[in-house]
Amino acid sequence: MNDKKSHEVEMMSELIDSIANFCGIKQVIDLGSGKGYLSSFLSMQYNLKVYGIDSSNTNTYGANERNRKLKKHWRAYQSRARANVRGQVLEEPKDRAVQDEMKCRANINEKLLSTNNNLLSQDQMACSDSVPLEITGAFTDSAMLKTSKQTETHLVAQTQSDGNKISENAFSLLNILPADAVEAVSSSKYNMELCEEEKEQRKMASIKAKASKSNDSNIYLPLTSYITAETELRDIITDLEDCIMVGLHTCGDLAPNTLRIFTAKPEIKAVCSVGCCYHLLTEEFENQKDCSPGLWGFPMCRYLKEEGWCCGRNARMTACLALERVAVSQVLPTESLFYRAVLQVIIEECYGVIKSDRHVGKIFSKSSSFVDYVRKSLKKLELDESKLPDSCIMDYYEKYKHRMNELEAFNMLKVVLAPCIEVLLLLDRLCYLKEKDNIAWSGLVKLFDPVKSPRCYAVVALKK
Ligand SMILES: C[S@@+](CC[C@H](N)C(=O)[O-])C[C@H]1O[C@@H](n2cnc3c(N)ncnc32)[C@H](O)[C@@H]1O
Repeated sequence: MNDKKSHEVEMMSELIDSIANFCGIKQVIDLGSGKGYLSSFLSMQYNLKVYGIDSSNTNTYGANERNRKLKKHWRAYQSRARANVRGQVLEEPKDRAVQDEMKCRANINEKLLSTNNNLLSQDQMACSDSVPLEITGAFTDSAMLKTSKQTETHLVAQTQSDGNKISENAFSLLNILPADAVEAVSSSKYNMELCEEEKEQRKMASIKAKASKSNDSNIYLPLTSYITAETELRDIITDLEDCIMVGLHTCGDLAPNTLRIFTAKPEIKAVCSVGCCYHLLTEEFENQKDCSPGLWGFPMCRYLKEEGWCCGRNARMTACLALERVAVSQVLPTESLFYRAVLQVIIEECYGVIKSDRHVGKIFSKSSSFVDYVRKSLKKLELDESKLPDSCIMDYYEKYKHRMNELEAFNMLKVVLAPCIEVLLLLDRLCYLKEKDNIAWSGLVKLFDPVKSPRCYAVVALKK
């Protein structure tokens, strides 16, 4: 698992586990689970019962294989951990044994994930939202032993939908957020007091959930299904019970549909969804000829629907850019963008092609020069490259070279605007939840370090 993925899995798991404890549930449904990194971690590290659903059979197969290997190693390390603890328990104070168990778990994860490197390096996600960082061994000791307080979680928007009650346990969920990041919430403001009896009931439910979790033998089942807003989970999961629905980098419409399923199904008590690939969203008002009412990816909320709001593909592509990464590295991929822009001119002027269903793809890094780039691109586009001599290709390069600065400025503007568009898409999802009567609490949580993982916001909500 690369650095980016292990960061995401660690952070998100911790939040999901705290929500599961708060709600007193142990079943998790991971939509768009891919190779199952999040799912397997939730089941093994937090003893949750996880169903991972992905539309790709190849991913399900990969997840099953990986899970089988992880389980084998997990059992071996667990028995070794128990032997270690037994050997020390007479001499050592109790907390020391717990520390050892924790250390051992950390080692287990490090070992498991590094011994499975072959499998893990196949982590070619169907639609990656950012440039992968280098592949490493995986979770480190310090990362595994991180306390909740160290979690770089940041609540950017959190409200109470209708002044309804949240138990005091909600604060233990919010405790994972640093104090300065949480809006000051006075219990009187949000009328969060519960009667003693209700508090007691919630505590008992949470204790029961924790107890039953520790008896479970970390179950994770990868399944294949294409999820839509109308998907009946009961048709896929026969033992569906009260659960939390999660999704890590659910691309395109899968993120909005996750929220739709959550609001429609009473068994789903909470949701934690991090979207990505906004360019794949379907938009109701993008194509004037085809704005039939239906379940579109955007907009979701009443206000933007009434306004007939349209983002457009270019804006949604812009929302996928990573301002924080550009700010840290101080570089834009100007040369590759310049190559792509001049290629556009060449195929328009020399081949009369304005639109094509074919994609050039990521060939800049594989090209030795601009001429090589153009030739490779023409092949991909199935255009006759023999009619274009090298000198003609270089003439185009020379003609536009002096405009590279303009391209850089234009792209910098796009990068700077990216967060505005992303926030529009996220607030649309949040407003959709706030319009529903059955939601007790919903908010946007900045879950990841945006330099490590640019699509870092989770939409989180709890049912009444
Ligand atoms: C960006 S990947 C994320 C994978 C995984 N959650 C992770 O973080 O490693 C998105 C995944 O969602 C799956 N997917 C996309 N649309 C889907 C749909 N409608 N139903 C089920 N799976 C879907 C893709 O096959 C892909 O594996």
